[in-house]
Amino acid sequence: MTATREPSASVHGSDPMRLVGADTEVPLVTGGTRRYVNLDYAASAPALQAVHDAIEELLGWYSSVHRGAGFKSRASTAAYEGARESIRAFVNGRPDDAVIITRNTTDSINLLAGTLPEGTHVIAFAGEHHANLLPWKRIGVRYLPVPETPAEMLDQLTATLRDLPHCEDPHLVAVTGASNVTGEMWPLADIARVAHEHDARLLVDAAQLAPHAPIDMQRDGIDYLALSAHKLYAPYGAGALVGERDWLSAGDPFLRGGGAVKLVTIDETLWADLPDRQEAGSPNVIGAVAMGVACDALAAAGMERIAAEEAELLTYARARLASVEGFEHYRVWPADHPRVGLLTFNLLGVPYDLLAAVLSAEYGIGIRHGCFCAHPLMMRLLRVDDAEAQRLIDVTRTGGHERLPGAARMSLGLGSTRADVDALTDALRAIAADGPGWTYAVNDRTDEYEPDPDPRPLPALSMRLEEHPHGHGESA
Ligand code: ALA
Repeated sequence: MTATREPSASVHGSDPMRLVGADTEVPLVTGGTRRYVNLDYAASAPALQAVHDAIEELLGWYSSVHRGAGFKSRASTAAYEGARESIRAFVNGRPDDAVIITRNTTDSINLLAGTLPEGTHVIAFAGEHHANLLPWKRIGVRYLPVPETPAEMLDQLTATLRDLPHCEDPHLVAVTGASNVTGEMWPLADIARVAHEHDARLLVDAAQLAPHAPIDMQRDGIDYLALSAHKLYAPYGAGALVGERDWLSAGDPFLRGGGAVKLVTIDETLWADLPDRQEAGSPNVIGAVAMGVACDALAAAGMERIAAEEAELLTYARARLASVEGFEHYRVWPADHPRVGLLTFNLLGVPYDLLAAVLSAEYGIGIRHGCFCAHPLMMRLLRVDDAEAQRLIDVTRTGGHERLPGAARMSLGLGSTRADVDALTDALRAIAADGPGWTYAVNDRTDEYEPDPDPRPLPALSMRLEEHPHGHGESA
């Protein structure tokens, strides 16, 4: 079947770079509504109109992929396989790299961790997101301390790789492309050079980098790259792992099941070649296609331009927010180090969860708060010492409840404006001066502040809605 995809074409002729829900009005506890100010792109980004339109179009042609002779199966399979190529092109993967469709970055990294050759030495830094921290614990890892500067990071890495036992065992260095807590971008080409000089391979967690800056796996020498579609303006449940085929096809697959095999008897299983070998079960066709369409749309818009515009807005945001009395911004590396568009902060005297609740309830501003799935890095930034960290572990382990230390984070993306930054700045200034304008209480289940009472009705959506949509530990 001949592929006829037109990258980034929006079937309804609307602006493909428009964001679905960009003009949504949200209720305030004080009455009335206001346009939702979305400063939470780093957690999850809204869908591009191009993605929404393409999925609506595809649903009419949706059927099983790889398994059916029906014409719709052929069309869906072509779209699914086309998405793989869009993802490869977006990150400039090598022509022979595997592009495996997963659920998200966490799934991608667990997949790689689950297929590493026996005895692989893994090196990761303590400041990583849990997605790039926890999967390695299962197989053994050397965690390096959070480095104070990029130069210190490269020195630590060089010394560690140099001192590893000289053996035939493979080595893997696992780093973030951009920190989800500080936004700091890691010098990937330099890290790849150091890794390769010591016969190690490099995995990059690109969850936060991919939506904000161009990625070039070939130029920078990135061996494996993990990314998530829900941060890439395609929140339909897919992610991808792109990288070298040999480790991923050597042993048993990470997941075992239908679609991952050539032939099965009760005694023997012949596993399929990549990518099918690592995609057991019916795949998320809609998610994969959404991700591919987002990659094409972003590439057509120009990632260099997107990065430059975001950097300009971030500079504006840093200057505006720094002018707020009591604003404390967290960073690890020097202030002028390149970063993606996010800022993690606290406002002196206002608990971080109360701050997030007030911004939402009284100002219609959405941010994220807590520890951002990067507890070791947050403990360092908040100066929580080892003894206090151990006390928190002990309390939590024995079922105790205690509000954890944390911070607030604002993050930018496509469609973010100076007006959004101004709205946050003005709100923080008002909260710093006068405190909340409503009453708030700590919810017993979540140990976090919420408006009390909260008169805001949930939107009248057609699907069943949980009455109290809180209490899932979402801020940790
Ligand atoms: N890891 C995502 C974040 O940083 C969800 O918010």
